[in-house]
Amino acid sequence: MIKNITRREWLAKGSVAVGTASIASLLGGQSYAATVEMPGPDGHVDDLLAMGGNENPYGPSKKTKEAILTSFHELSRYNFSLPVELKSVVGAVHNISADHIEIGCGSNEILRAVGLIAAENNNAVLAADPTFYSLYRHSQDHGSNTIFASSTDKMTLSLDAMRSAMTDDVKVIYICNPDNPIPTIIEENELKEFCLEMSKRAIVIIDEAYAEYCQNPDFGSMIDLVREGHNNIIVTRTASKIYGLAALRVGFAFAHPDLIKKLMIFKTSSSRMSGGVAMHAAIAAYKDSDYLDFMRKNTRNSLKIAYNMFEELNIPYIKSDTNFTLFDAGIPTVEVGKRMLKHNVKVGRPFPPLTTWVRLSMVQTEQMPRFVEAYKREFG
Ligand SMILES: Cc1ncc(COP(=O)(O)O)c(C=O)c1O
Repeated sequence: MIKNITRREWLAKGSVAVGTASIASLLGGQSYAATVEMPGPDGHVDDLLAMGGNENPYGPSKKTKEAILTSFHELSRYNFSLPVELKSVVGAVHNISADHIEIGCGSNEILRAVGLIAAENNNAVLAADPTFYSLYRHSQDHGSNTIFASSTDKMTLSLDAMRSAMTDDVKVIYICNPDNPIPTIIEENELKEFCLEMSKRAIVIIDEAYAEYCQNPDFGSMIDLVREGHNNIIVTRTASKIYGLAALRVGFAFAHPDLIKKLMIFKTSSSRMSGGVAMHAAIAAYKDSDYLDFMRKNTRNSLKIAYNMFEELNIPYIKSDTNFTLFDAGIPTVEVGKRMLKHNVKVGRPFPPLTTWVRLSMVQTEQMPRFVEAYKREFG
C-alpha cells in the first residue's frame, strides 16, 4: 500500500533494527538496519515467510530505491536513452560491449523468445530433468518437442546425459547454471567445452539467473564465451534475484550481435520501449556492488541456519550455490506446503520427479529462526 508520504519518511521508516544475539554474530557485528532499508514503501514486512519463490527477501538496495523515487517525475516519458545507458552499465559489469546485450521484460522474455526459435519449424528443445521450465514450456505451447536428459544420482545436471539425448531435431539446448530447483553448478571448464562443442549443432542457452549468489570457485560465467566472439551461445541474467527487482521485470541476454538481432525478432517488445522506472532502478542496482556483498553474506548466513536444522533432524539436503536449498522431507512436498502454511510459512511447490523434496528459498537471516521453529514444531 503506497501512502502519501515523503521520500525522506519512506526511507526513514524503512530502517528497523532487529535480531537476536546469535543472529547478530552471523551478521558479523554489522547492523542490518545500517546496511539496507527494509522492504516495502512504508517499512512493512509481510507476516508470511515467503520461502517458495526464490525472491530477494530484503528488497532492492537503498540506492536503488532512491533511484526509483527520483524517476517518478519522468513517468510520462518514453525515455529511449535509458536502455542504452543500462546496456552500457551492465556491459561494464561484465566487460562486454552493448551490441552483445539485449534487455528483456525479465529474463523470462528472453527465455520465451528462444523457446519460439526452437518452435519455429516444430523443432525440439533439449533440457535437464528437472530444471527451470519457462523456456521449454513456452516452446511446447508453440509446437516444439522437449527432450529431457536425466540428472545424475548426485543431484547435478548431467552433460553426458545431454550429449546422449541430443538429436538433429534439437534447435535449442537449455542449461540453467546454477540450476533450479537443484541449486548446484556445472564446473566451468566442463561447461565451456560442452558449449563450444554443442553450439556447432544448436543454440546453447545458459540461464545464469542465480550466478551473482554463487561463490563456488568451480563456477564460471559463460559470458566469457560470448565476449570471446563465439556464436550460437546465449547467456541470460536477471535483475529479479540478487538485485531484488522482480516486480520491475528487467532481464538480459548476452550473445553475439548477429544472434542478438535474431532474438529481437522473437521478442514481443523492443528494449527501446523498456519502462523508465525499471531502467532507472536497474542502472542504480548494477552500480551498487556493495549491495551484492551484503546479499551474499546474508544469504550464506540464512543457508547456514537451514543446514544446521537439516543436520540436527537428519534431513538429506543439497548444499546451495544459489539463494535456495532443496531438502528431502520424506513425505509429499504438497503436504509439507500445507502444514507449513498453518505457520505462515510458504515453501516451494513440487518439482517432479522430486516429489518429496522441498525447495526452500532463503528469507532474511533474522527471520530464519521463525522457519526453524515452525518446521520443528510440525515435523521435528
Ligand atoms: C532459473 C530462472 N531463470 C529465470 C527466471 C525468471 O526470472 P525473471 O523473468 O524475473 O528475470 C527464474 C525465476 O524464478 C529462474 O528461477
